[in-house]
Amino acid sequence: MTKTSMTLLTLACALALSACGGKSEGGHAAAGEAKSSSAGLPDGNIDAGREFAAKGGEGIAPCASCHGADGNAPIDGMYPKLGGQYADYLAQSLQGYRGGTRAGSTADVMAAQAKNLSDQQIADLAAYYASVPGSLRDLQNVN
Ligand code: HEC
Repeated sequence: MTKTSMTLLTLACALALSACGGKSEGGHAAAGEAKSSSAGLPDGNIDAGREFAAKGGEGIAPCASCHGADGNAPIDGMYPKLGGQYADYLAQSLQGYRGGTRAGSTADVMAAQAKNLSDQQIADLAAYYASVPGSLRDLQNVN
């Protein structure tokens, strides 16, 4: 490889990297401006999600009956906390349970809850739980 082509390659890599950097998408959506997940769901409605989580739907138990109020007070350690979780992760998980790709002994408990959720309900629930202040931590800024 010549020196010129190496320089061009380096430049192309730098441009490609800078094109991807900068904007951070897919983080926590601010309350009221919940965007659709990367899986192509409709925009979520936080208020609709809050109501569904508390009351449940036709033949669907209230999410709060296992995950607790605002997804922050699970009835025991088997039930994960949902409050403050990334909306995309929540939506992706719910789609996985509904579609059977997230399966297994404890996942099957959740799959029974998710199997009749619509795309809109998944988007609403994901937007709602992501909007709630939670006690989950991530590894950002640990160093
Ligand atoms: C009968 C109890 C029960 C109910 C009701 C329930 N869940 Fe769950 N949920 C679980 C269990 C158990 C798990 C852990 C499953 C696993 O191991 O993957 C779980 C896991 C989840 C996860 C994955 C969390 C993570 O950190 O990976 C999401 C998201 C979720 N539930 C959302 C909901 C929503 C939304 C509702 C209401 C529509 C709901 N759940 C109702 C029992 C329940």
